[in-house]
Amino acid sequence: MSTPPTLAAPPVQVPPHPQWPALTADEKAQLTTRIKTLLTEQQAVLVAHYYTDPDLQALAEETGGCVADSLEMARFGAASDARTLVVCGVRFMGETAKILNPEKRVLMPDLRATCSLDEGCPAEAFSAFCDAHPDHTVVVYANTSARVKARADWVVTSSIALPIVKHLKAQGQKVVWAPDKHLGHYIERMTGADMLLWDGAGVVHEEFKSFALERVRRLHPQAAVLVHPESPDAVVDQADVVGSTTQLIRAVVEMPNQEFIIATDEGIFWKMHQLAPHKTLIAAPTAGEGATCESCAHCPWMAMNSLQSLEQALRRQDQEVHIEQSLGVRAVIPIRRMLDFARAQAPASGRR
Ligand code: 13P
Repeated sequence: MSTPPTLAAPPVQVPPHPQWPALTADEKAQLTTRIKTLLTEQQAVLVAHYYTDPDLQALAEETGGCVADSLEMARFGAASDARTLVVCGVRFMGETAKILNPEKRVLMPDLRATCSLDEGCPAEAFSAFCDAHPDHTVVVYANTSARVKARADWVVTSSIALPIVKHLKAQGQKVVWAPDKHLGHYIERMTGADMLLWDGAGVVHEEFKSFALERVRRLHPQAAVLVHPESPDAVVDQADVVGSTTQLIRAVVEMPNQEFIIATDEGIFWKMHQLAPHKTLIAAPTAGEGATCESCAHCPWMAMNSLQSLEQALRRQDQEVHIEQSLGVRAVIPIRRMLDFARAQAPASGRR
């Protein structure tokens, strides 16, 4: 008798954080100038995530690119008329850009920058699981490979996952969800939808610790707690705001509090400081007493994006994202479904 397909995610090997040599102000200025020239020569635009190095975020803004969450990165790339999109982030972000824009060249600073969620959801095992539940609608987080997306009915990002699953529930649909069990469980709790959750977790958010967070909250009783929904339930339960990177940034700007405890990748602090310079940002703890952390609130794959790796990739042109055409035409369907849904929602809410 064959073993039934399970929801178990395979173990993921987390690399050490890359150690980039420190740059003097002069070296940084020279490197930045070289990158700007290469971008112009190659008619390229930077599309950067909030978790990347602040130098890259600043450069993306300065050169007419974008700094955004994963949904907005996808939209920006699709709307841009640049010939080359240089995606500073992790692999699934580059792949999404390529799937949506097969006619454009998509480069990344380092193609090895994967994501623990993507790694923890191999396409064959996931597909077998979906096959075993044909009466379920398949919803996958954007943090997945092109092959997993190609098996899905819907792709979602953290900023749009809730309304999409609400919509599916209203239609009486049951959901297979992958890969992040914490985000999946949060959505299940908020919507009451019938969901089967893949057993994956992201290395950054998985490490936020609830007891240590309680202690930090006692030390800062006036602080608002902002949590990305990839975090475990016990951390989410302590949040004043649960949301995508963009939603958390907006909370810092709009809430009256002066102090914020933030449970997501520390790369986001650059944008928060930029938009609300007088507010105090406190990193949520990633380790309790005696505990250790692997990612320590910064994704080691995101950290592969640096001025150095970007300059090298533009110069060598050897970090190009390729997606087989037959795969791309399947994977684009659930991504477009998400973008169409977001567009249809926008006039009603006025924003995401
Ligand atoms: P956002 O869509 O909220 O930016 O999250 C991206 C991400 O990769 C979190 O792990």
